[in-house]
Amino acid sequence: MRKPIVITLITSFVGLVIVCAMSYGFPTCFYCPGNICKAHQAIKNCGQCHIPFKGVSSSMCMSDGCHSIDRLSRLSIKALSDLHISYVNKNKDCLDCHTEHREDNLIHHS
Ligand code: HEC
Ligand code: HEC
Repeated sequence: MRKPIVITLITSFVGLVIVCAMSYGFPTCFYCPGNICKAHQAIKNCGQCHIPFKGVSSSMCMSDGCHSIDRLSRLSIKALSDLHISYVNKNKDCLDCHTEHREDNLIHHS
């Protein structure tokens, strides 16, 4: 009587491990988020924006090579970069206004 239970437990566990591993290897199929915007399409690694079990945070958006204050002020017109520097100083979250996986719509319209 005990053997089938052990076999069921082992098969379930192995199944779970396979599903978890596949979700890690093929995240686009498993989590099906919408397409990221054109400007971000070169980013193939979800972990560039997502921290596992934590989600996306402004600190990821503002890392070097992405939207650090330095780059924001070099790449954007002054009015826009000044505005963003004031948001950063007020500790505003980029995600209060911006979104992702909504094709080219990077601003929340709620
Ligand atoms: C350029 C940064 C970026 C990349 C790369 C990225 N994401 Fe996201 N993702 C976001 C942001 C920002 C949100 C939050 C959107 C919101 O709350 O408006 C999000 C939200 C999500 C959500 C929540 C559902 C949704 O549609 O809001 C899922 C699931 C997700 N991402 C999966 C992925 C997977 C899987 C990958 C890799 C294939 C990936 N993301 C790559 C930035 C990114
Ligand atoms: C209070 C709302 C708000 C917050 C908070 C915010 N943004 Fe923005 N952001 C905007 C608006 C509005 C635009 C202009 C959109 C447009 O031109 O279509 C913009 C544009 C941008 C652009 C495009 C710049 C360009 O030159 O075209 C980038 C990059 C950007 N934001 C990054 C960020 C980052 C990183 C953060 C977090 C530090 C952030 N934003 C926080 C509202 C916000």
